[in-house]
Amino acid sequence: MKIDVLLGLQWGDEGKGKIVDVLTPKYDIIARFQGGPNAGHTLEFNNIKHVLHTIPSGIFREDKINIIGNGVVIDPVILKHEIDEAVKIGANLKENLYISRKAQLIMPTHRLLDKAYEEYKGANKIGSTLKGIGPAYTDKTARLALKIGDIFKDNFLEKYNCTKSHHEKIFAGYNFNETNEEYEKEWFAALEFIKSYKFIDSEKFVNDALKAKKTILAEGAQGSLLDVDFGSYPFVTSSNTTTSGVCTGLGVSPHKVGEVYGIVKAYCTRVGSGPFPTELSDETGQALRDKGFEYGATTGRPRRCGWLDMVALNYSIMLNGVTKIIITKADVLSGFDTIKVAVGYKMNGEIIDYVPYDMNDDLEPVYEELPGWKTDISDCKKTSDLPIELLNYLKYITVKTGVKVKYLSVGPDRTQTIKIK
Ligand code: IMP
Ligand code: MG
Repeated sequence: MKIDVLLGLQWGDEGKGKIVDVLTPKYDIIARFQGGPNAGHTLEFNNIKHVLHTIPSGIFREDKINIIGNGVVIDPVILKHEIDEAVKIGANLKENLYISRKAQLIMPTHRLLDKAYEEYKGANKIGSTLKGIGPAYTDKTARLALKIGDIFKDNFLEKYNCTKSHHEKIFAGYNFNETNEEYEKEWFAALEFIKSYKFIDSEKFVNDALKAKKTILAEGAQGSLLDVDFGSYPFVTSSNTTTSGVCTGLGVSPHKVGEVYGIVKAYCTRVGSGPFPTELSDETGQALRDKGFEYGATTGRPRRCGWLDMVALNYSIMLNGVTKIIITKADVLSGFDTIKVAVGYKMNGEIIDYVPYDMNDDLEPVYEELPGWKTDISDCKKTSDLPIELLNYLKYITVKTGVKVKYLSVGPDRTQTIKIK
């Protein structure tokens, strides 16, 4: 068997959580491969709205295995809270949650480092979620990181203190005096709690499962334009959010990658700093924010909103090898007279149709316009229920990307998902 991949093609918040939940019945295993609690994956079913940060979005479907892969960074305090909340609404985590021993721990001091770095950067700050993600991944490459499997070793505390004292040297250099001893206490208590869950050597587990013909869906977090190598650097997250991250974040060969589902919001949003060529700072942008309830699921920050950017989308499709597109939040676009799509950027007086070396350069979008639709589509159940203008918008996306649109999401609930025929 091959491992299918589902990831966001924009700046995150494309609606990955909902779509994973919808696709889970087709799979035996759902696995997260990168990122950490900077992610906020929202699911809605039976009038329950639930946000996941670290746990894969297949957790509310019975008898499905959910793996936190080696490429993920875990804050035990947040994970414990997530476990408690998910158990309350009936998830069987003792049975269905599997944690890679090689997943990395986010230490309490990583959260402080995130803050110290952002304060130091001032106006140039990244707009980090401040969950310690960047500093944790930095320590991975600096070879100072603690793996969650280390908690079972006798020298865990020694290792912890060694890395912590390294962080303290950095704080001294930055004249940063904040501490979080209370959080540290909670952190150790949460680790004790988590010890009773299932730990696996996930690379072997995943490859054995593929050999045994189990179906696996890898669930991406953040979006391709936040990828540490290919995103709008330095305004990115610190992991590889693209398909390549599946290979390193779960330990599977590129030969084993099957379908790549690219999740695309029908318009664009971004939370945090950094370039966003199609951003709308006017009432249209505000209308998208209000209708789409565009506020961060992790931080509550208002998201920046704008039109679909075909140039950036095609770049993401290229990087990921996307085989199927899934469009989300189409219902939010209902009611506009016209819908705009950027098909090029004007840079230094010249029009280009690709993402340039530095997205932070001055890029003015070149738009094409399509007729909008006025009807409420949130109750549509099948392709033939959809307004012709929306079908034309989907066709337009397929023509411009060369990739078929397989599903359309017309609302936040599990049931508001249409297979496009
Ligand atoms: P960090 O990964 O928390 O350090 O954040 C780095 C950048 O990525 C900031 O602009 C964040 O707002 C953004 N970011 C991180 N995680 C997410 C996410 O799950 N959705 C959307 N944006 C995110
Ligand atoms: Mg999110």
